[in-house]
Amino acid sequence: MKILFPTKNYSHGQKNYLNLHFRNRLGVAAGLDKNGDYVDVLDSLGFGFIELGTTTPRQQSGNEKPRVFRYIHQEAVVNRLGFNNKGVDYLVSKIKNKKYDAVIGVNIGANKESTNDQRIEDYVFCFEKVYKYCDYVTVNISSPNTPELRKLHNPDELEKIFKRINEIKTINQTDIPVFLKISPDEGEETILKIVNIYETLKINGLIVSNTSIDKDILEGCSHDGGISGKPLFKKSNQLLKKIHELDKDIFLVGVGGVFTKEDYENKITLGASLVQIYTGFIFEGPAIVKKILSR
Ligand SMILES: Cc1cc2nc3c(=O)[nH]c(=O)nc-3n(C[C@H](O)[C@H](O)[C@H](O)COP(=O)(O)O)c2cc1C
Repeated sequence: MKILFPTKNYSHGQKNYLNLHFRNRLGVAAGLDKNGDYVDVLDSLGFGFIELGTTTPRQQSGNEKPRVFRYIHQEAVVNRLGFNNKGVDYLVSKIKNKKYDAVIGVNIGANKESTNDQRIEDYVFCFEKVYKYCDYVTVNISSPNTPELRKLHNPDELEKIFKRINEIKTINQTDIPVFLKISPDEGEETILKIVNIYETLKINGLIVSNTSIDKDILEGCSHDGGISGKPLFKKSNQLLKKIHELDKDIFLVGVGGVFTKEDYENKITLGASLVQIYTGFIFEGPAIVKKILSR
């Protein structure tokens, strides 16, 4: 594939975390490249890391259209895509045998028709398929658009998922970091429980946060789905701050409403080691990378 952009190298912010080298701390959040179709272009834009997915065991078409709504004045998006993706085998075929300067993560989820323990099997299935071909894996239990998925914030369910993933890691002698992406809409009690089991379950990082279904944060919100962009900034930051205050050893990836360098630095000040963007990139285009990372 012809690369359309000269490779940018914003390497003054380079860091090593979890045995991975990040050329800088700004990444693409999950959902932008669900199938690994645009990794070359995203890599050449200069992002430090790219999270692909969410991918599921089998391909699925997602919810009925229209399912993505822009709120121009509020610089927000409401989406109810529902994990439309081409399936994990397709994603693996796109990244297998390729090398990128950016760190590559794969965000994994469950198919819509899977219920109960079949959901757990979906995560295990995807993990086994992807771990050899990426640098980290994210367990996504926080999309609001797959019915009941957020129930997996329950520690018993998390234990089931991570126990299986950790067994696979041990058997295959791999140390690949596994992150958990959480919702900004969970109550304090659930967050406390997750913080408490973080170490026992050998989770390597929390991604804070996914979109919110709290319509109060978006004035004039007339669609059901997950809210992202500017209105999510405060809410996701509150959660980031709370978790960092509860346990400074938890590795945090901050995401939600980043549009400027100041927003990016704000998340780092609140405890994030890495920061991701999605909606800011949609509104501002590729120039946002330079805007955030230039000195
Ligand atoms: C259109 C759209 C699709 C998304 N798809 C996914 C997804 O597949 N998996 C996931 O974990 N998060 C997904 N997200 C959430 C983003 O990764 C991110 O957590 C959220 O949008 C907050 O960041 P932002 O305000 O910078 O957009 C999606 C967001 C949007 C706007």
